[in-house]
Amino acid sequence: MGIRGVQIKIEGLTHRYSSRGPVTFNRVDLEAKPGEALAIIGRSGCGKSTLLHIIAGLLRPTEGTIRLDRVLVEGPSPRWVMMFQAPHLFPWMKVAQNVGVGLGFGRWSKNEIRERVAEALRLVELQGFAESNVQDLSGGQQQRVALARSLVMEPELLLLDEPFSALDAFTRSSLQHDVRSITKRLGINLVIVTHDIDEAVLMADRALIMAGSPGSIVHELDVDLPDPREREDPAVQALRAHLMAAFQEAASVKPHASGDGGQHESVSEDKSFANMN
Ligand SMILES: Nc1ncnc2c1ncn2[C@@H]1O[C@H](COP(=O)(O)OP(=O)(O)OP(=O)(O)O)[C@@H](O)[C@H]1O
Ligand SMILES: [Mg+2]
Repeated sequence: MGIRGVQIKIEGLTHRYSSRGPVTFNRVDLEAKPGEALAIIGRSGCGKSTLLHIIAGLLRPTEGTIRLDRVLVEGPSPRWVMMFQAPHLFPWMKVAQNVGVGLGFGRWSKNEIRERVAEALRLVELQGFAESNVQDLSGGQQQRVALARSLVMEPELLLLDEPFSALDAFTRSSLQHDVRSITKRLGINLVIVTHDIDEAVLMADRALIMAGSPGSIVHELDVDLPDPREREDPAVQALRAHLMAAFQEAASVKPHASGDGGQHESVSEDKSFANMN
């Protein structure tokens, strides 16, 4: 699969669900390089899913813009795909049909679809399961099918909204590892929303902390660690502790009035953290 990432540029993004309702988040600015993996962490209700839906073109912002390679996002596209906590598979279709379902609407022949589906199943290590019924798979395997269905579209950007939170720790850990290695190998950008600090450290190149009401990005931290990342590694643990401290500090930040643009902490102090130990 010949995939490359995309440059993300978000400027002055403000959102409210209704004209009289509260501001979900206020003047969020965010950039990512092609192939970069971002994790957004924050407490329940601070606007993470809303932000992800706007990036995916599934929701419109109230103000501000999101550009992918300088092109304004104005709706959904196969170039960026979103994965949710539940895999949302079609139970009456086999695994291969589920994976190829998005290709059926495109310009591909039956043979091309078969080849692309087989390649996507290889990527998620489910090559033996093409003809299985999806109900016969475990939760983790079903999430892998959903991942293959996303990858088969050859997206430039994969958006994940707490995709592993319903899985047991062992399955979650293998998917965290595999999603990172697959997206890195293919050069796909990743934006993952999570409550899980470990997940952010294991999967991201950069972790962003969202907090406040209205929400804003109050802190960011480079996750400058080699791959593969192991939870027990002291460098991983140290970064985890640092992110946890920043997260707790962010949680204690008082909500600021809308319009002040947020109190962004200096990022530079964090740049060298991974080398401090
Ligand atoms: N469809 C909607 N209509 C009105 N308000 C909404 C809607 N969806 C979410 N909200 C509100 O917007 C705010 C942000 O919600 P969002 O789902 O983005 O939070 P989140 O950070 O993803 O939370 P969680 O971690 O629980 O998933 C919340 O206060 C929520 O109540
Ligand atoms: Mg959410």
